[in-house]
Amino acid sequence: MSLAGKKLLLIIGGGIAAYKSLDLIRRLRERGASVRAVMTGAAQEFVTPLSVGALTGEKPFTELFDAASEFDVGHIRLAREADVIVVAPATADLMAKMANGLANDLATAILLATHRPVLVAPAMNPAMWTHPATQRNFAQLIADGISAIGPNQGEMAESNETGTGRMAEPVEIVAAVENLIAIAPDKSSLKGKRVLVTSGPTREPIDPVRFISNQSSGKQGHAVARAAAAAGAEVVLISGPVELPDPSGIKTIHVNTAAEMLKAAEAALPVDVAICAAAVADWKIDDAAPEKMKKANGGPLTLCLSENPDILSTIAHHKRRPKLVVGFAAETEKILDNAKAKLAKKGCDWIVANDVSPETGVFGGERNTVHLVTREGVEDWPTQSKEAVAGALVRRIADTLKRAGK
Ligand code: C5P
Repeated sequence: MSLAGKKLLLIIGGGIAAYKSLDLIRRLRERGASVRAVMTGAAQEFVTPLSVGALTGEKPFTELFDAASEFDVGHIRLAREADVIVVAPATADLMAKMANGLANDLATAILLATHRPVLVAPAMNPAMWTHPATQRNFAQLIADGISAIGPNQGEMAESNETGTGRMAEPVEIVAAVENLIAIAPDKSSLKGKRVLVTSGPTREPIDPVRFISNQSSGKQGHAVARAAAAAGAEVVLISGPVELPDPSGIKTIHVNTAAEMLKAAEAALPVDVAICAAAVADWKIDDAAPEKMKKANGGPLTLCLSENPDILSTIAHHKRRPKLVVGFAAETEKILDNAKAKLAKKGCDWIVANDVSPETGVFGGERNTVHLVTREGVEDWPTQSKEAVAGALVRRIADTLKRAGK
């Protein structure tokens, strides 16, 4: 695959693996990409701006408060103009700053200001990699929608230690960049469009301290919201209670119950596209107790449940119906039959159906295998990350709106 015409921004962190980034630049340019480089202060201790500039064909950017380059390009433009940002090597320190939203130098300011896909290639000593702080930060970056390649196992460059911490090889990084570009939506394909996304579970109170809910993590819905924003849409994300941070730059409305989610969704209309990825609780408890309920001497407890409103169906039948209404269907059996029935019953345009039986690890996991059910038929998509599913879905949405002239 070619990277012709793609603009890559390479952020070089301060680690010994920075020498491999020189080869990475060469390989990216060989495939037709243009590469701009940003070097942290520490990176310049390992490789010189001169060698980096000689390979990219342009002086690397190094300073946040460099008036000349701020007037000329500016860190916000650097953050926005790239098709993909690659951080290689991503040191423990750089990842810690990214995970916590620090922005005290050019590299971190760009990473905080960007909506473009980011790929990190961690590289560090194995003890630093396995440290709980690094693992925590790395997990946070993945939850924030950042992609990663490596680190690999093997011998360290700076010592004769072996373990996990070697930066992925330049060829592997190039392949990961190609993959990221393949799934990344075009950055203006949904420009001017308003997109509503529901995500996460809902919580239906039994009493002030107890509730009924489900296993949804919100990872897929949040990834869809991020992908739509990356495609230039104005996104309203309505999220049930999840452990995920609010995606940066996206208006996120927090709700608990299905009734609150419905109210927020209707208030967000009109939108061009609605994507209902939330796992809305089907039932709510009638007359939730105002005080904490007490055990009734070992006797049984009867809860009376009634059906929640169907948000997807309400939006699909709304007088302000969006041009495209997409539902998700989590099934544990007869996935396609159930999804097709749901498409008809709810009146939506598409259903993204997935198998969530426990052995698939979809709930809370990073990967997903989905089928796109439309009125025209069923497409089986390959197993891929939730980010990739989101990117592919957003691309389909943008294509469909464009073809329909909407
Ligand atoms: O019927 P089921 O819950 O399987 O349908 C799943 C789809 O319907 C999802 O898109 C979900 O967001 C949506 N849904 C909803 N409101 C409900 C129940 C489901 O929007 N009360």
